[in-house]
Amino acid sequence: MSGNRTFTMIKPDAVESNNIGNITQMISDAGFTIKAMKLTQLSKDQAQEFYEVHKERPFYGELVEYMTSGPIVAAVLEKENAVADFRALIGSTDPAEAAAGTIRKKYAESKGRNAVHGSDSDENAEIESNFHFNESELV
Ligand code: RTP
Ligand code: MG
Repeated sequence: MSGNRTFTMIKPDAVESNNIGNITQMISDAGFTIKAMKLTQLSKDQAQEFYEVHKERPFYGELVEYMTSGPIVAAVLEKENAVADFRALIGSTDPAEAAAGTIRKKYAESKGRNAVHGSDSDENAEIESNFHFNESELV
């Protein structure tokens, strides 16, 4: 994946509030190319596995419940410096701390229900992309 791809999810709160189009537009306007995208819903097992790194954290149960509460959009995005540039576009985890003009500032409800996910490293971008898409979907 060599540093030019990242993985995102538009989370259940943002799908529920009809912001798939607005968020996708912001992603495109920021120069990302969509390489794969689908509307899907995570099972409890999938959400537990995806967020396994947080399993000892106090918010883990709430996070799994939230992420399985409705459909999400999973997508693989391409751009030079994708991981860092996408983290900048989405803003801080807590929308109250997110910079003006970021996706979370505009569309997140709270630190827990924060509209979008962005991979935190090239390694995780590849793992997370492969979690949601098979090889033939990732051209
Ligand atoms: P993400 O993985 O979704 O892109 O978010 P992130 O890196 O900014 O934040 P991370 O620390 O990885 O946390 C993962 C997700 O868990 C929920 N969370 N809730 N209530 C809380 O204190 C709390 N802290 C984290 C958020 O949905 C966060 O995005
Ligand atoms: Mg994270």
